[in-house]
Amino acid sequence: MAVALIVAAGRGERLGSGRPKALVTLAGRPLLEWSVAALRAVPEVTAIVVALPAGELDAAPEGTIAVAGGETRSESVKRALAAAPGGDPVIVHDAARPLAAPELFARGVAEIESGEADAVIAAAPVSDTIKEVVHEDDLTVSATLTRSRLWAVQTPQIFRRAALGRVLAEATAEDLAAATDDAWLIERAGGTVRLLRSDPGNLKITTPHDLRIAELVLAERLEVADGGRS
Ligand code: C5P
Repeated sequence: MAVALIVAAGRGERLGSGRPKALVTLAGRPLLEWSVAALRAVPEVTAIVVALPAGELDAAPEGTIAVAGGETRSESVKRALAAAPGGDPVIVHDAARPLAAPELFARGVAEIESGEADAVIAAAPVSDTIKEVVHEDDLTVSATLTRSRLWAVQTPQIFRRAALGRVLAEATAEDLAAATDDAWLIERAGGTVRLLRSDPGNLKITTPHDLRIAELVLAERLEVADGGRS
């Protein structure tokens, strides 16, 4: 049986709402609650731990385990794992991705349980051409990457519990700050990470524009679920 960790302790300054991003209202509920609802619809998930800003633990949805997050995203993951009851594999998910469907979580759990990987991570093929610049203040292009080999990584990321616990315990504070995703810590330690095919619809809320798109998607989903009754 799986345990889920939702990281929701970021400040979300780029959203400009003056509130932690996970608590901003999206289609009538706090952003965080969309991920909690999706995870509750996955039968394999027996517990949900939520990492929140230290002053906002009261905002944890009923039935979830609240824990104060850390300075960096991976520090929040580490604290949530420490508070998690038994359960293996461990699903790590960003509250900032409220559109992830129960099917994606369930497919990730099935995939890790049936294979040899230490981590299975949601990702979508990129549709933009990606160029590299070395200096952000110069913007001279240094390379064009081969698009057919590139995938944009998302959450959920599903881990064998022992593997995630080990890399988080071994990481320094600098490693935790450098890790924009937890799977990188596994790769660095020589573990096996496999992609779980997802699509760009599992978008990450960063700007007010993202929030507007997510509102439209959820309004459409609610209308479909309602069967046009209202
Ligand atoms: O900042 P970013 O959008 O990359 O954050 C991704 C996720 O990690 C968000 O859901 C955010 O709430 C969470 N986070 C966290 N603790 C931090 C920083 C980010 O739980 N210190």
